[in-house]
Amino acid sequence: MPNLHNYLIAAALGASIFTAPALLAAEKARFGYGSPATAEQIAGWDIDVRPDGQGLPPGEGSVEDGEELYEEKCALCHGSFGESVGGYPALAGGDGSLTDPRPKKTVGSYWRYTSTLWDYIHRAMPFTQPESLSDDEVYAITAYVLHLNDIVDYDFVLTRDNLTDVHLPNEDNFIPDQRPDTRNKRCMKRCKDPATVEVASEAAAYVPEGGPDALYSEGEAQDDGIVSTVTGGGVYERHCALCHAGGIGGAPMLGDTGTWSARIEQGMDVLYRHAIEGYSGEDGIMPPKGGFVNLPDSEVILAVDYIVEQSQ
Ligand code: HEC
Ligand code: HEC
Repeated sequence: MPNLHNYLIAAALGASIFTAPALLAAEKARFGYGSPATAEQIAGWDIDVRPDGQGLPPGEGSVEDGEELYEEKCALCHGSFGESVGGYPALAGGDGSLTDPRPKKTVGSYWRYTSTLWDYIHRAMPFTQPESLSDDEVYAITAYVLHLNDIVDYDFVLTRDNLTDVHLPNEDNFIPDQRPDTRNKRCMKRCKDPATVEVASEAAAYVPEGGPDALYSEGEAQDDGIVSTVTGGGVYERHCALCHAGGIGGAPMLGDTGTWSARIEQGMDVLYRHAIEGYSGEDGIMPPKGGFVNLPDSEVILAVDYIVEQSQ
């Protein structure tokens, strides 16, 4: 938006050198330059497509047409089957991998809404020529990417009217983030005054109301695979890094040998016990198992070993 940007800079500079009465006068005159955006200009920016289909233009495209277009315009980076070439993102595959330690996040495995796929391709692809595709081409290529993910058959034709009927496999698995520092419920309308929202950033606040068990509901800890990681590094990344990577709440940072040497001198048994049972020290509070009470002791021990290995 070069024009608006320049306008804002000019306005800011202008404001800073005006005397107060001059500023008031200028404000009254609305600075005397710039012009209202035309409907056409606004339409150029207003291209977002929402999950309920709002914003979709009329049009349609078949998987078959999409195949040809995709091969010509997309395959060189994303691969003929969406498998990815040369490090560009894969668009297909990864079914059921989201609970693995290294999930493969693709349109089929991870994305929530078909509308996002349409919007993304329309807005941003091909990478070197964004917004160069016609609406029908976007429908066709979207249909083909859905087909690559086994979501629609080869004879499918995607249209404005049926796009919201196409559901992606992961749609229902987006849930409010249950980590304790993001405990506030999501809100879409008539929301709380932001000034009254509590940001719980003290280490003590990582232990949720109702005790650490409240972190997990309905046996999710077992079902969602969060605890399936078995390497010390993996456990650390998931359960310890949120404090120990950045020194949050006084947590000694990974790799900070100066801070860790005295702690390591206490012996591994003390470190294991402090990590498993939790403790309150001079620098802050180490919650039992970092607050993830469903973590098996053996995994906490692996993580401590990893931390010590990286910090001596
Ligand atoms: C020159 C290489 C290139 C071409 C050609 C290209 N893309 Fe991309 N594509 C990228 C890159 C790079 C990204 C990641 C962009 C980012 O993350 O900002 C991407 C991201 C995407 C994504 C999002 C992937 C994700 O998981 O976040 C989709 C969907 C996509 N491209 C579809 C297409 C389609 C459809 C075409 C053909 C119309 C196409 N791309 C052509 C390079 C390319
Ligand atoms: C909510 C923040 C937080 C999380 C999450 C967290 N820690 Fe800590 N940890 C701390 C703080 C703060 C201290 C320092 C307490 C002190 O020395 O006063 C600490 C200290 C430690 C110590 C040093 C103990 C000692 O006796 O000096 C170990 C070992 C440790 N944490 C391991 C872990 C492991 C393993 C995990 C992941 C399973 C983890 N921590 C997750 C905040 C956290």
